[in-house]
Amino acid sequence: MLAKNVDVNAHGHLTFGGMDTVELAKEYGTPLYLIDGNGIEARAKEYMTAVEEYLGKGSHPCFAGKALCYTDLYRTLEKMGMWIDVVSPGEFYTAKNAGFDLSRAMFHGNNKTDEDIKMALELGVGRFVCDSDDEIEALHTIACEMGKKPKVLLRLTPGIDPHTHKAINTGTIDSKFGVPIETGDAERLVKKVLEKESIVLMGFHCHVGSQIFECEPFFEAAEKMLTFMADMKAKFGYEAPEINLGGGMAVPYLESDEKISYTENIKAIGERIDALLEKLSLSRPVFYLEPGRSMVADNGMTLYSVGTVKCIEGYKNYVSVDGGMADNPRYALYEAPYTLINASHADKDADFVATVGGRCCESGDLIQENVRLFRPVRNDIIAVLTTGAYNFSMSSHYNRLPRPALVTLYNGESRISVKRETLEDLIKSDL
Ligand SMILES: Cc1ncc(COP(=O)(O)O)c(C=O)c1O
Repeated sequence: MLAKNVDVNAHGHLTFGGMDTVELAKEYGTPLYLIDGNGIEARAKEYMTAVEEYLGKGSHPCFAGKALCYTDLYRTLEKMGMWIDVVSPGEFYTAKNAGFDLSRAMFHGNNKTDEDIKMALELGVGRFVCDSDDEIEALHTIACEMGKKPKVLLRLTPGIDPHTHKAINTGTIDSKFGVPIETGDAERLVKKVLEKESIVLMGFHCHVGSQIFECEPFFEAAEKMLTFMADMKAKFGYEAPEINLGGGMAVPYLESDEKISYTENIKAIGERIDALLEKLSLSRPVFYLEPGRSMVADNGMTLYSVGTVKCIEGYKNYVSVDGGMADNPRYALYEAPYTLINASHADKDADFVATVGGRCCESGDLIQENVRLFRPVRNDIIAVLTTGAYNFSMSSHYNRLPRPALVTLYNGESRISVKRETLEDLIKSDL
């Protein structure tokens, strides 16, 4: 099977986190997001251990909540002492609601409003990752008014192309995120920030992209960032105490995808960093990584019920399910690959090629095209694997569809972490 937490039981049903998915669909209804709570804890532990061991004491992974964000998850992360990356008041409000200590939060975003900044300062968000001159000016003004001294990392664009999909490629010079090193803008902004007494410059951040299988883009990012750090030390006598290398490690979505060891990757990045620190005669800063997808993707699964099976002789077979682009827009957005299984007959051969579509009024509302699965009939359960990242967090009400419930599986038991929305929920803000 694609992941360790996926299997087949004696009834021929697909299991996830050791639990029967067909039974879970019966109990909670479909569409249904499942989250393997044990799996997330194990992955968080793996990241925390490897980052501290290979990147240095005091270094931390910060879970990127854009991948998955709800109160119950942040309760777990708080308990574990994890750091987080947040991109909106909605995300840090959710964390706060979970009792999360926001001094361990990095506040990102290329367009923070004055209200966002005020709220983050009031709630004591630990780091502002600033993206532009305008943001620095706004933060300076608001911080002075409020008598605060925010800690800042400057987001830099290192000019690296990690050769991933253009929608998730963020480190090139012309990116909408960050300040480029190559144009001299980054250096100019460092000088400006160092002159502002209201701001404590903690260091530099970069994020080169997402779904990156190789280590090379991370090596390049480390080299660019540490070289810039050495440059700033030489020019301004400023030696950054913190460097954040962002997220981006890949997750296998298909059997044919390469397997990946996060511990091994972090070890390799650490070795490269050790050599760079020595070569550049730098003291070791605290390092942060910001894994999103690789913390949660394979710890999630979505279940749907089959509605119709339509065979257009000589053309195509369609299987339509009771969800779609409103709960998983990733195929419609960038043809993201997924593995699908007929969970009701997971022990049978995948003998049928079909395009699995959703129930929305869009031809592009597809979960996956031309996948092989055991030929389903109405009310069979279809499982889409590896949906823990950028599914629930990207969901919408398109076609006025209520969002599915999200159920956490933990030690062989299940609990609702996010309730299924009702039709009443859909109209509750309508006047
Ligand atoms: C600044 C930043 N950090 C972390 C992440 C998480 O990336 P991933 O989910 O690929 O690990 C992203 C994703 O877009 C990001 O923009």
